[in-house]
Amino acid sequence: MTESPPRIGGMDVQGQNVQGLGDPEDPIVLLIGPPERLSADGRRWVRALVEAGRHVLLAPLDEADGEGAAVALRALLTELSSRPAVLCSAQTLAAVHPALVVTGPALVSCLIVVGAAPDAATPADLPRLDLEAEPATEATEAALLGFLERHAPRQALHYQAGSDARTLRDALGCFATGVTVVTTLDEQGQPVGLTANSFSSVSLDPPLILFCLARSSSNLERFRRAEHFAINVLHIGQQPMSGVFARSSTERFDGVAWESWDTGAPILSGSLASFECATHQVVEAGDHLVFIGRVTRARFEPRRDPLLYFRGRYRRLHFA
Ligand SMILES: Cc1cc2nc3c(=O)[nH]c(=O)nc-3n(C[C@H](O)[C@H](O)[C@H](O)COP(=O)(O)O)c2cc1C
Repeated sequence: MTESPPRIGGMDVQGQNVQGLGDPEDPIVLLIGPPERLSADGRRWVRALVEAGRHVLLAPLDEADGEGAAVALRALLTELSSRPAVLCSAQTLAAVHPALVVTGPALVSCLIVVGAAPDAATPADLPRLDLEAEPATEATEAALLGFLERHAPRQALHYQAGSDARTLRDALGCFATGVTVVTTLDEQGQPVGLTANSFSSVSLDPPLILFCLARSSSNLERFRRAEHFAINVLHIGQQPMSGVFARSSTERFDGVAWESWDTGAPILSGSLASFECATHQVVEAGDHLVFIGRVTRARFEPRRDPLLYFRGRYRRLHFA
């Protein structure tokens, strides 16, 4: 899964060169301040905003311009096609404040101030979030994105039968999953495995689980012929392994420690959990086959965190 870099665009507003990152169709976050002053944490936020479907505009306003900065911001706000969320530092707030007082919620949806400025006034009717400048943790990122969803919500996207598969895929990607490596042995006794997040529990009595295998998989026939398979649930430290087992290569097991239990299906050592199964049923379902397995043996590690997958990216658990 390669991450595509944010799209960079730009606009010229009354002589100001405003750089844009992300999709211009997305709701705007107007980041105030010269782009060259953006810290590493600031860049991380910009990337998180773009990935969360925000169009980030970098407005090169400098608080040293005093009244000039407020005038420039007012001009910019009147030119934008939609009401942006404004994100500025505590230092810049004093300079942009006069513009916000004049325009208020008519031209701005909400305000995010980075760095403590609890006493600084803002227009009373403008929702405001204060964020610590650093570090840019996942918790502050989540607070920022959650605030934007409340005060500058993105429009929900719709899929209808027959329309583009990409939108359906994105909708399905809203369901956060763990990540597994599904394994078996081929007829020559060679280990076979691939990364799969389509794992689900099915039944406790009898103990059944499932995963879905794409018909396009080069290993389809090997899994179909084998009478057993194993599901290895990955922990957060096994992200590189997930990458290896998702790439097309015949050497996926090179350097990987694995063991055999009763059936020979590879049990990846140190996994968060492993389930050894006898193939119970294979169901044809569109462009995938659903493999249902009867669990014959399982082992799990109670203290490690899982590797997660959400909206096409690996994630980790965090508790705010
Ligand atoms: C996080 C993640 C989850 C995946 N889940 C599945 C899955 O559930 N079923 C599937 O067939 N492929 C899935 N894939 C894709 C396969 O891992 C990938 O296509 C692999 O290269 C297939 O190899 P093969 O053709 O050797 O079987 C997933 C990939 C990633 C990165």
